[in-house]
Amino acid sequence: MENKNPIELGSFWLPRAGSTLAEHIDAGWAAAYWVSVLFFVLVTGAVVLFAVKYRRRSEHDKTSPIDHSATVEVVWTLIPLAILIALFFVGMRGYVHASVAPAESYEINVTGEMYIWTFTYPDGTTTVNEMAVPRGRPVRLILSSKDILHSFYIPEFRVKQDVVPGSYTSLWFEATDTRETVLLCTEYCGSGHSDMLATVKVMEPSDFEKWLEGNNNSDLPPEELGKTLFVKRACATCHSLDGTRLQGPSLKGLFGREEELADGSKVTADENYFRDSLFNPQGQIVRGYPPVMPSFKGLLKDREVDALIAYLKTVK
Ligand code: CUA
Repeated sequence: MENKNPIELGSFWLPRAGSTLAEHIDAGWAAAYWVSVLFFVLVTGAVVLFAVKYRRRSEHDKTSPIDHSATVEVVWTLIPLAILIALFFVGMRGYVHASVAPAESYEINVTGEMYIWTFTYPDGTTTVNEMAVPRGRPVRLILSSKDILHSFYIPEFRVKQDVVPGSYTSLWFEATDTRETVLLCTEYCGSGHSDMLATVKVMEPSDFEKWLEGNNNSDLPPEELGKTLFVKRACATCHSLDGTRLQGPSLKGLFGREEELADGSKVTADENYFRDSLFNPQGQIVRGYPPVMPSFKGLLKDREVDALIAYLKTVK
């Protein structure tokens, strides 16, 4: 599959920053980093220095009878305490920023399932494995899972949240630059876990409106619409078109083919078989494949199913 990983590095070996939260997270990271560097140098420096300066020089050396020093102990307690309190406030600012979504946030519903991400916009538009968001506007995501635990992670936005079946979680961000980046599942959820990726497109608000319209109604001829949908609905994650075995059977030359099902019965792949497989995928599992296909019920309109059929008929 194509490399969907356009994460670029920014400072401190972190991915480049892409949201208003990133400066908070990165500030906390940099603060902890430099405090660690400082104390590494101080402590190891003192160890080496003292080991040389106070080393045993002869058999007759005696350990000097040093007791404790209250001044030194107070100093080495108060200075780290002050540093830790400062670090706490750096972290707390970021935590508060991340926790409270602005009231005027644009809301998108996100569903995770083995092994795709689905996005539902306020106007009813749905996309699979592709999320576009407007730049400079707070976006709140309401996350849920159809099956098991997944985790939603956009490294460049510095947001990560568990996606839990049977309940909602949420997160928000405000993207600062127009770019394309990647969303990862970061909770091991099965054999397709590492393919559970989505593209995140940050667009100027006017381009975003156009994108939303373009995804809502398409005037393409069926075969071309089908070809677009095959990619956009992430069919290609699990089904090849060239005979290669992926998570699911290859769809090369699907129509007219005789498939042996898990229960041993045989079925000829026609339009109805294809439609049933989309809407009730567990009903007819091809022998030798795991029953992992998600249902596309509610995600594809009749016209879109027709278009996919028209397209797949051209893939011989
Ligand atoms: Cu979903 Cu890992």
